[in-house]
Amino acid sequence: MSANPSATLNVPEVSKPVTLPTMPGSLGPKVLDIRKLYAETGMFTYDPGFTSTASCESKITFIDGDEGVLLHRGYPIEELAQKSDFMEVCYLLMNGELPNKVEKTEFVKNITYHTMVHEQISSFFHGFRRDAHPMAVMVGVVGALAAFYHDSTDINDPHQRLIASHRLIAKMPTIAAMAYKYSVGQPFVFPQNRFDYAENFLQMMFSVPCEEYKVNPILAKAMDRIFILHADHEQNASTSTVRLAGSSGANPFACIAAGIACLWGPAHGGANEAVLKMLEEIGSPDKVGEVVKAAKDKNSGFRLMGFGHRVYKNYDPRAKVMRETCNEVLDVLGKRDEPLLKLAMALEKVALEDDYFVQKKLYPNVDFYSGIILKAMGFPMSMFTVLFAVARTVGWIAQWNEMIEDPSQKIGRPRQLYTGAGKRSFVSLDKR
Ligand code: ACO
Repeated sequence: MSANPSATLNVPEVSKPVTLPTMPGSLGPKVLDIRKLYAETGMFTYDPGFTSTASCESKITFIDGDEGVLLHRGYPIEELAQKSDFMEVCYLLMNGELPNKVEKTEFVKNITYHTMVHEQISSFFHGFRRDAHPMAVMVGVVGALAAFYHDSTDINDPHQRLIASHRLIAKMPTIAAMAYKYSVGQPFVFPQNRFDYAENFLQMMFSVPCEEYKVNPILAKAMDRIFILHADHEQNASTSTVRLAGSSGANPFACIAAGIACLWGPAHGGANEAVLKMLEEIGSPDKVGEVVKAAKDKNSGFRLMGFGHRVYKNYDPRAKVMRETCNEVLDVLGKRDEPLLKLAMALEKVALEDDYFVQKKLYPNVDFYSGIILKAMGFPMSMFTVLFAVARTVGWIAQWNEMIEDPSQKIGRPRQLYTGAGKRSFVSLDKR
């Protein structure tokens, strides 16, 4: 028997069985190669939500949802979160290997020296309403970067792609902090090259010109870890959006703006905001039993936010690290008795022991704790998804570059099952 046996498919109205080759990955399930299916059978496959479809080949991130495993270029997320830092993880995702000392120094320098934005971008901000949602501002400003950095929009030039990648990773925290400062009516704060990536973001967010700002190293470490935990997650909705936008040859700034737009949705990047709102509405640990009961009742229309995941049918490995980080942050801020944390712990305990959640394999996901940490650090809820976008930019960029370099890459063009009207003749207005 060959190592990669083919599958045989009997298709109605097709005389001969169709042979479909299987393709192995280095980890995870094999895939059925259906590229010739339409040519041989005249039929498409139907898979809304891509629940059984691999849209590309990738070497960047591997998830085993049943076992609760997340690997970036082979390294477990828990080890990266504990032993590495965000800059190294960025280099790893983009290049496939961890950097040596020289490579790391050069990479950090490249990112640090691209953090400033074109001065004209400040004027661009002033066109927005002050009460605009910062994600709306992010979509607009990041898309507009293509109008400012013409020398890094040629996707066929690897050097221009690299410069665009550095620019996007470097400028996202600056743009995110500017969106926040604009919304609260404070002056924009310039990046400072003496700070590392996470420290710099915190100082651009929270410092004001009239007093000195000291970055708390534990909060900076927590910020860095939050960035690591959100850096990439293989072919999720926003990453697939970036790949699809990029498949037409669109420039990198436009593609990342498309990713930000997709991430904005509450079923994707907006979930940590939903968790916090839910905890605030529940209000007290006494109500946990009642809430869990409502979550189990299909007629209530209520779901426990921060629980369950399309891919993880086990504890989300990122949620474990996030839980520890949450404790560290609340300790350093003297908020150990934070009622929301106590409530979250009580809810987690009850849900993890409840038959409904056990049988359906519903575990806390990464969003369950991140909202509490971010709130404690002083971020307003509207910035939660923005932080996700800052961290995920490197994942989007790495996946976009991988797609451009893939010789089998084609423009993304799904097919459909048409169920609309058949062909009919036009009826003039006076006869309708
Ligand atoms: N609370 C109560 N019941 C739930 C929950 C929940 N949070 N999540 C799933 N279920 C139940 C469903 O009712 C369904 O029950 P059934 O089989 O009896 O019909 C079963 O578990 C499977 O749920 P699906 O919605 O079919 O699973 P899917 O994989 O499509 O959805 C999702 C995953 C969207 C994350 C879901 O678990 C959910 O809505 N969770 C709450 C929102 C949330 O936390 N989202 C963040 C996801 S992580 C991220 O995007 C970074």
